[in-house]
Amino acid sequence: MMPALSPEEEAHSRAATALIRERVRAAGGWIPFEQFMELALYAPGLGYYSAGSVKLGPGGDFVTAPEISDLFSRCVARQCAQVLGGEGEILELGAGTGRMAAVILESLAVAGKLPERYAILEVSADLAQRQKERLGRLPRELRERVVWLDRLPDRPIEGVILANEVLDALPCRRFTSTDGAVRELGGAEGGVGATGTVMGRVGAPDGAAPPAARGNAPDDAVALVEHGNAPDDDLASACAALFDELPAALPAGYTSEICLRLTPWVAGVADCLERGLMLLFDYGLPRAHYYHPQRTAGTLRCHFKQHVHDDPYSNIGVQDITAWVDFTRVAEAAVAAGLDVGGFCTQAAFLLATGVEQLIAESTDTVEHARLAGEARRLLLPGEMGEAFKAMALTRECDLALDGFVLQDLRRSL
Ligand SMILES: C[S@@+](CC[C@H](N)C(=O)[O-])C[C@H]1O[C@@H](n2cnc3c(N)ncnc32)[C@H](O)[C@@H]1O
Repeated sequence: MMPALSPEEEAHSRAATALIRERVRAAGGWIPFEQFMELALYAPGLGYYSAGSVKLGPGGDFVTAPEISDLFSRCVARQCAQVLGGEGEILELGAGTGRMAAVILESLAVAGKLPERYAILEVSADLAQRQKERLGRLPRELRERVVWLDRLPDRPIEGVILANEVLDALPCRRFTSTDGAVRELGGAEGGVGATGTVMGRVGAPDGAAPPAARGNAPDDAVALVEHGNAPDDDLASACAALFDELPAALPAGYTSEICLRLTPWVAGVADCLERGLMLLFDYGLPRAHYYHPQRTAGTLRCHFKQHVHDDPYSNIGVQDITAWVDFTRVAEAAVAAGLDVGGFCTQAAFLLATGVEQLIAESTDTVEHARLAGEARRLLLPGEMGEAFKAMALTRECDLALDGFVLQDLRRSL
């Protein structure tokens, strides 16, 4: 059962839906999913990340690894310490509540490896405010190192760039294909569908009954629904290249996502790294597994009050929308930008290699020990975050054998 919306959430969602409905009408009845996701997550004042809901943590919509346990950030700090060696900078992209930044700074202070500066680039004004409150409580020597940027730095840094669960929040394209013929999925008003094939709700097979006609219904009662349309040139050529490369043909009606923003995103961030490590964590797969013929409904997931479902057209503006990451695309983009793929492994392998077990063993208090062991299980177990989440190291002029990647090397699967 989907949790109910509070009256404030209902009002917010109605306003966000109205904004997108206007864009749909202005565009002639349909917008591509990428544009829908951009608006639903980032429309100023109304998108999920632009507005004031709790979002992360137990009282929010979803939990991330740094929110589950500080063990995660302490392990990331160990990897940072190896690369920084007591100088250089850290740049964190999309820092959520600021908890990972706080724990990394505290851990590096203890290790005597503090960076000169810890910069944060956050697109959500609401989350940036929460980060400022959280990091403002650090001792002065640490909090004075933290700065917030409103765009990527002009001057490339030496050090570490971090992004946990940021790539999955980049707006993606959504498509369905039959015998290589691609339809681009996107949002339309219920019952309109003038420009495209009516697809019904997400995952409905081609030819499903169209939604009820709009008639004289008030705008508020008109839902946005998923429709297929002819792909633009970018999506058509990206899909053609993808299908050529896959080891197996995809079954009729295969639906999935493709994030064409990954390549420019990686290129832009790579430009900011003069020397050091870009460390990415996200749920995702190498391409051949991502586009496995049996994964017929794609990887799109929505998060609302800890409830996971696959309907992005519900709860618009008050739920998170994510898609898994094609790590092969990330690696290709990195290599094209002059970086090396220094490591690729599961989150579990990264945490074990950076000493998560030792961190638990160091705790002598039995209650704390049991709590940490429970948190570690959530981070490590294959059925939890251990295998679906991956760690990827992208490096420039850095020939260290990276501590986090010594236990497992999945680069050949990319
Ligand atoms: C799922 S949350 C993860 C937050 C945090 N890293 C954590 O693990 O708890 C996604 C974060 O990425 C941010 N974000 C989304 N797109 C971004 C972009 N293009 N650049 C920087 N941050 C971005 C969001 O505002 C949010 O802070």
